[in-house]
Amino acid sequence: MYGDVSQAETNFVIGALMLAQMDWTRFLAEFIQKPLATGSVIPSSSYLAKTMIRQAGLRNADTVLEYGPGTGVFTPYILEQLGAGSKFAAIEINPRLAALFKAAHPGVPVFEDSVENVRAICDSLQIETVDCVISGLPWAFFSESMQTRILGEMFRVLRPGGKFVTFGYVHSLALPGARHFAGLLPTCFRKVTKSSIVWRNVPPAFVYRCLF
Ligand SMILES: C[S@@+](CC[C@H](N)C(=O)[O-])C[C@H]1O[C@@H](n2cnc3c(N)ncnc32)[C@H](O)[C@@H]1O
Repeated sequence: MYGDVSQAETNFVIGALMLAQMDWTRFLAEFIQKPLATGSVIPSSSYLAKTMIRQAGLRNADTVLEYGPGTGVFTPYILEQLGAGSKFAAIEINPRLAALFKAAHPGVPVFEDSVENVRAICDSLQIETVDCVISGLPWAFFSESMQTRILGEMFRVLRPGGKFVTFGYVHSLALPGARHFAGLLPTCFRKVTKSSIVWRNVPPAFVYRCLF
């Protein structure tokens, strides 16, 4: 016992930290192998996850997609908000991260594919339109043509009035890819807002909320 904290609570915290460390180690290994597609050395924090999901406002969403979930740090926060009849699926291009995601969230369909194929993926799920896309993609590391292609394909599924929520790292704003992406968003969405900086994320990040 540690003061008011029981042994069970202590074990839970130690277990959670060990799991987080396992995720970090595997994520780092993926970054070393595929730095541009992975885009980060460690998974996002719960602070960033909560900001993302708050911006998404999923309470009334019937159909939600998660792009680039990695190990799935945002996923529990998404599931917490979804109603019983809602449809939810994830698309992860990296087979090893997709396998980790599957193990952590066996109830969530994950497509081991590129988000460029989102229309075909939605067809296979009999989804006509999507209310919200929550993205963990490393936009700053994508080429300009890749950014345009991924957004173009997303517009084939996102319903008018639907939301696109994604994050960027403060330090990456100097990169040409991040600057291009920031300029691209207002040209294709009705309204784009930026959250305040989530300083407790490593590295500090902010969230774009885009209304289609
Ligand atoms: C910065 S990590 C974010 C992971 C997780 N969402 C988080 O915040 O910790 C980017 C993720 O996007 C995935 N990714 C990159 N390009 C992709 C693509 N074209 N289609 C699907 N996933 C992709 C990577 O494999 C990686 O898991």
